[in-house]
Amino acid sequence: MATDREIAGNHHKNIEKANQQKNPFTSIAEEYGKYERDDLKIDVFYKSSKEMSKDLQKWCFKLAEKNVGPYYKACSLGWQPKVKQNDMTKSWAKFLIAKHGKENAGYVMFRFDMDYGRSVVYCYELQIEQNYQNKGIGEHLMKCLEKMAKIYQLERVVLTVLCNNDGALRFYKRLEYSIDETNPSDEPSYAIYSKEI
Ligand SMILES: CC(C)(COP(=O)(O)OP(=O)(O)OC[C@H]1O[C@@H](n2cnc3c(N)ncnc32)[C@H](O)[C@@H]1OP(=O)(O)O)[C@@H](O)C(=O)NCCC(=O)NCCS
Repeated sequence: MATDREIAGNHHKNIEKANQQKNPFTSIAEEYGKYERDDLKIDVFYKSSKEMSKDLQKWCFKLAEKNVGPYYKACSLGWQPKVKQNDMTKSWAKFLIAKHGKENAGYVMFRFDMDYGRSVVYCYELQIEQNYQNKGIGEHLMKCLEKMAKIYQLERVVLTVLCNNDGALRFYKRLEYSIDETNPSDEPSYAIYSKEI
């Protein structure tokens, strides 16, 4: 039987392996690279932060500002544009971009990381343009993260959500995310949710 140390070592190795992939989405692109519903045809592309053009970076930031800026401003955290912008250009930041033809419809920003001793896909941002919301694109992008977690044998998908963002809370609960064991109980502004893979 494997010891705790061996198990921990395996989790680290799995994270390393996931991080070594030039494009970690390639292995699931055939199944998840396209999302179609009714007349909507969405293509999903992977980009590391290094591969993001300035325009794409700007669109990601502006969409986050438009979509969740008001929720940040309404709680004690406040909107901190510099912090958000910095995170998006960090070397660990990975993106899946959902496109409708030439138009950007939404994205998810994530990283593969050890989190309190667990191997996880950490979802930092999930943002869908307003005219593309409620069409299943957000769910598809979360399923992409879950599938990558499965492929690289990671234990969980983890995310942070603002407690005043009712729509997002409902969305994640519907996808069977629940309060994570690391959630700070004395924090009224945000909550940590996760799903076991
Ligand atoms: C929250 C968010 C990411 C969800 O993404 P989305 O693509 O709109 O989500 P989906 O379409 O997969 O599901 C949303 C809802 O639409 C419904 N839906 C999905 N496909 C549908 C369809 N074809 N027709 C009608 N309704 C549909 C789902 O039942 C779901 O209901 P719910 O609100 O009770 O969860 C997105 O709305 C968003 O970007 N919101 C603003 C930013 C934000 O809050 N981001 C999360 C930060 S943590």
